[in-house]
Amino acid sequence: MKDLKVEKIKSLKGEIAVPADKSISHRSVIFASIANGKSIIRNFLMAEDPLSTIQAMRALGIKIEERKSNTSKESYELTIYGNGLRGLKEPFEVINCGNSGTTIRLISGLLAGNPFFSVLTGDHSLKQRPMARVINPLKEMGAHILARMNDRFPPIAIKGGALKAIKYAIPIASAQVKSCLMLAALYAQGVSEITEPFKSRDHSERLLITMGADIKVNDLTIQIKGLDDKLSSLNPIEVTVPSDFSSAAFFIIGGIIVPNSELILKDVGINPTRTGLLTVLNDIGANVTLENIKLISGEPVADIICKSTDNLKAFEINKNLMPSLIDEFPILCVLASQAEGISHIRGAEELRVKESDRIKAMVTELRKMGVEIEEYPDGVSIKGKVPLKGAELESYKDHRIAMSLTIAGLIAEGTTYIKDFNCVDISFPNFYNLIKCLIH
Ligand code: S3P
Repeated sequence: MKDLKVEKIKSLKGEIAVPADKSISHRSVIFASIANGKSIIRNFLMAEDPLSTIQAMRALGIKIEERKSNTSKESYELTIYGNGLRGLKEPFEVINCGNSGTTIRLISGLLAGNPFFSVLTGDHSLKQRPMARVINPLKEMGAHILARMNDRFPPIAIKGGALKAIKYAIPIASAQVKSCLMLAALYAQGVSEITEPFKSRDHSERLLITMGADIKVNDLTIQIKGLDDKLSSLNPIEVTVPSDFSSAAFFIIGGIIVPNSELILKDVGINPTRTGLLTVLNDIGANVTLENIKLISGEPVADIICKSTDNLKAFEINKNLMPSLIDEFPILCVLASQAEGISHIRGAEELRVKESDRIKAMVTELRKMGVEIEEYPDGVSIKGKVPLKGAELESYKDHRIAMSLTIAGLIAEGTTYIKDFNCVDISFPNFYNLIKCLIH
């Protein structure tokens, strides 16, 4: 694994396109694979996580062609030859989902509805992430599933088949669980009803409705009709994936906390289920504006302009806002260190079971940089505004921790070292090269 050395910089300036949305990239491949015919996915994110999904769908017999596009280093055009809902084949090997929670959880739902045997596994981190949240409701629908440690952790062995519709209240706000159950519901007899406690990202609903699925969304409840009769099917799609708001978030915060900076981030997805960070930034007086708002493939997109702001106020985040900024927790901790007063980020217990324990990771590493930070089971309080000092930092092989600490390193006095930095390949292989282009 490669380490990174980061020095304090004077400013970040320029216009960039961050890579494509990871969540939409995963979903477009899975859904197109079970559509009837050829789909085209433009600006697909070719990073390790979505590649795990491509490899999984290939292992299930789907033909997927990839062609590099010229927009950015990670951007590809995929042609996916969907075989219909019943067109998947039993995989010959164990399917390795790598580091990707979205791959293993969504594909579990897909396989629950297919009448063959399959095994899903992943890397060291994924094998420690909780799966009972998908396994229990899938069993209730009629799938036969076994997993490690009392059916709680990968590897997961699935013998799918005839499913019955489910009426289910998901105990946690999780788009991965919701999407897993939506996929299983497509294979079930009857109408399933899935309710979530808070609104999580709705990319699956948007895409599947575009593809002709019978889905009704009423606030926190989704009704989804099984495509059990032979005449119903999903239509193929042509999708252009917008840039990922969660990847843009590192640059948004960089543009705000690095002095004398101004960044323009082109065509970023601003789906309201993802942009809780913009709400926070607006509340604390950060200099961020949106321009050229438009719809691309059913998702709202805008150019985001952010400028350095030196009188940021502390902020409070609770359970209600958390799902719309779930992946921004690490970079929000960095922001809090530069905001006047004590910021509270709570209702974030889910962060304990992401690619790493992100609460513990940020507490440990920001303390090394001189930040006063209090740890709670469900979050942190952070005292700003403090001058950061360079330090030797761990990334915990977690892409979002590595990128957040890099942004912190850009304003820290002295040199910052980040261990195992190439974990950024999970979602953003070109991250540091893009930063280098913007340093002035
Ligand atoms: C994702 C949902 C979120 C998020 C993850 C991607 C998705 O996870 O943290 O990075 O694509 O559905 P949870 O649904 O587990 O909160």
